[in-house]
Amino acid sequence: MDDLLNRLTTLLGPAGLLTAPSDIAPFCTDWRGLMHGAARAILRPASTDQVAQCVALCAEHGAKMVPQGGNTSMVAGATPSADGSAFILTLSRLNQVRAIDTTDLTMTIEAGVTLQAAQIAADDAGALLPLSISAEGSAQIGGVLATNAGGNNTLRYGNARDLVLGLEVVLADGRIWHGLRSLRKDNTGYCLRQLFVGSEGTLGIITAAVLKLSPRPRDRQAAFCAVPSVDAALALFARFRAEDASALQAFEYIAAPTLDLVVKHIPGITPPTSRAPHYVLIDLATTNKHGNLRAMLEDTLATALNDGLITDAALADSAAHRAAFWKLRENCAEGQKQEGASVKNDVSVPVSTIPTLLAQAETALQHLIPGCRMVAFGHIGDGNIHLNVQQPANITAGEFLSQAHDIMDCVNAIVQSLHGSFSAEHGIGKLKPYLMTNWRGGPELDMMHAIKSALDPACTLNPGTLLPPRP
Ligand code: FAD
Ligand code: MLT
Ligand code: ZN
Repeated sequence: MDDLLNRLTTLLGPAGLLTAPSDIAPFCTDWRGLMHGAARAILRPASTDQVAQCVALCAEHGAKMVPQGGNTSMVAGATPSADGSAFILTLSRLNQVRAIDTTDLTMTIEAGVTLQAAQIAADDAGALLPLSISAEGSAQIGGVLATNAGGNNTLRYGNARDLVLGLEVVLADGRIWHGLRSLRKDNTGYCLRQLFVGSEGTLGIITAAVLKLSPRPRDRQAAFCAVPSVDAALALFARFRAEDASALQAFEYIAAPTLDLVVKHIPGITPPTSRAPHYVLIDLATTNKHGNLRAMLEDTLATALNDGLITDAALADSAAHRAAFWKLRENCAEGQKQEGASVKNDVSVPVSTIPTLLAQAETALQHLIPGCRMVAFGHIGDGNIHLNVQQPANITAGEFLSQAHDIMDCVNAIVQSLHGSFSAEHGIGKLKPYLMTNWRGGPELDMMHAIKSALDPACTLNPGTLLPPRP
């Protein structure tokens, strides 16, 4: 191993390799503080060629590697195991926007650019990168693609995978796949780029991507609504869809207990003026210069108020006002984190079954852990609810977290009965591979293992992530 470290040091230089324990530590704990790993060193290559050479050297020595972007994984996907045998390979120095083409509406971008920097670059060029998550200030393009992130705009633009036209990937043996194509049509065999999207660093290291952009909206309008029930929230959603589905940029849900944690813990929050059991944030956008979004929003909400689908609504009067609405939503995860320990259930179900899911889960959870708080929020417009559970006041975080699997199993049983998924957008990481056998067993898991064996036969890339051990 010393020979390997020496060769990596020669390759990367002092700026490219961190070995001091205090430098390594921040990379070894996940965002939620649930897993504390250890790493031999942090590799910080500055180019695709350097990534390839690092990977080739590690492969030659059989050394394990954990690719890491912004380290915002909700499932500890970028956290190494505690034995300290792996290197963390961070992509953060690959941070160039290589090109933006406003005719093709594409962006060629390196893996270490943050999602927010990519959005700003697209906006500066007069276009829209239509992917938005609350962690966008830290999450990087490589991580967002490796997890197939969903986020706030899925109902209109799809998940991260729907935005990828081409990829550049360093394979497990150190070869580079130059797949940075920008074609909208290309049926030349298996769609390899989609194998790497959502593979969570287990099949290859994404170093750059060609992403689809969209025209930048001319008009945006937003409203924050107090809603009497989840059924009413869905009825409201259906009304906006019927009015103008193409304008629905986001339709997000926050339950009152979740909003309370945001107001309690996040400075500078403006709480809604009226109290309700549920809230929705509606974001509309159009490129149509004749589309009068404000009138549509006002009319639809006035009728909804009349029909009892909402009890109150605030309409944004400016971009700053809209940002204040989004601050409520974007801080749901942070507010919950500051309140104490939580178990996250990132589930999706058919949209029509969300009221059943929430009602059944509340009953089952209270039965399992009396006094626990269901802290629900999420992307209700695409069926993805973050059905998170907060520790009760009368037990310690440790006691609560020791029941994490029971809590997840309790919620997942309901999700399964509704034909949903136990992981809508966060992936599997190191926290949930144990669920794969039950949910994806048989031919599906066999195919996944076969793909892993074909692309990473020595199993050096992010071991222990996504797949359960082979029987
Ligand atoms: P990391 O956490 O560093 O890594 C994630 C996984 O990708 C790991 O398995 C890692 O090994 C792998 N990886 C990273 N970079 C590469 C690469 N270049 N090549 C190959 N593999 C790589 N997710 C959503 O989908 N929707 C949301 O709305 C959402 N909201 C969030 C809000 C908050 C506050 C937080 C903290 C997280 C949220 N997430 C959300 C989780 C989400 O998965 C991440 O924020 C993001 O997609 C991960 O990007 P990252 O750069 O931080 O990746
Ligand atoms: C979000 O949408 O804010 C995150 O994906 C949710 C979470 O914290 O579970
Ligand atoms: Zn989410």
